[in-house]
Amino acid sequence: MFLFHTIKALRDYLYHQRQAGKSVGFVPTMGALHTGHLSLILASKAANDLTICSIFVNPIQFNNPDDLSRYPRTLTADCTLLEGAGCDAVFAPSADEMYPDTPALKFNFGDLERVMEGQFRPGHFNGVAIVVSKLFNMVQPDRTYFGQKDLQQVAVVRRMMLDLGFQIELCPQPTLRETDGLAMSSRNRNLTDEERPVAAHIFKVLTLAKEAILAGQSPAEARQLAYAHFAQEPAFRLEYFEIVNAHSLQTVETTQLHNQTALCVAAYLGKVRLIDNFVF
Ligand code: PAJ
Repeated sequence: MFLFHTIKALRDYLYHQRQAGKSVGFVPTMGALHTGHLSLILASKAANDLTICSIFVNPIQFNNPDDLSRYPRTLTADCTLLEGAGCDAVFAPSADEMYPDTPALKFNFGDLERVMEGQFRPGHFNGVAIVVSKLFNMVQPDRTYFGQKDLQQVAVVRRMMLDLGFQIELCPQPTLRETDGLAMSSRNRNLTDEERPVAAHIFKVLTLAKEAILAGQSPAEARQLAYAHFAQEPAFRLEYFEIVNAHSLQTVETTQLHNQTALCVAAYLGKVRLIDNFVF
């Protein structure tokens, strides 16, 4: 497996691979890799000749400096995992390599970022869209793999690709979970031993809300039920529980329930902010 730190080295490598007619799959990450990330690598390997993974803790998508400084950085262990999964090359640039100057460009995704993560993390999706569009220009993949775990990120990247005309196939992948249902996340490593079992409460509430809807309750009732269940677990500070259309991200009413409805949640457990969702 190759490890590149500069854009030039990455481009030189990809130029030769493309000359040889190889198709390229791309998995952008911020490292601290777990089985969920590796499932994206495997999906890419199944459909492309070459799989490239980027590892870059993107400072401009963090609106909370503590979250940025606490973000785990484990490049050596990540490379071992990626090599084991059969990844062909890793791109791990420095912040100076990615941002020779502060970007002047600003993305505004309108309604897509007025809700949920966009509302609670102002500027987050601007940072995501800048880094992802730069990475797309550097790698120029045929396909790119994102996790449904970050449902709003998928919607924003889909919109950015449409608006900017990227000729890349977006391939969203299902969320991988621990045995107790907790969605795998790099941030889970920051949970204390006491917090870790409590974190599975998120999955339980999502399951209860989903069952309520399947049993005929309205989205508003299911949302109320979720808020009540979070209130019973004082270790959590719930930021939102929303029932939305997975593409438009706008709130769903009873008459609009269909197979693109998503239950989305964000909550702090101690100092760790966790997000999760179910899509019908
Ligand atoms: P990161 O949080 O490292 O996630 C990288 C990719 O892995 C994302 O597409 C995310 O949705 C996916 N992922 C995370 N947990 C997952 C799980 N449990 N199951 C399946 N996929 C999972 O998302 C980012 O990085 C950044 O915002 C990035 C797109 C790299 C831009 O900086």
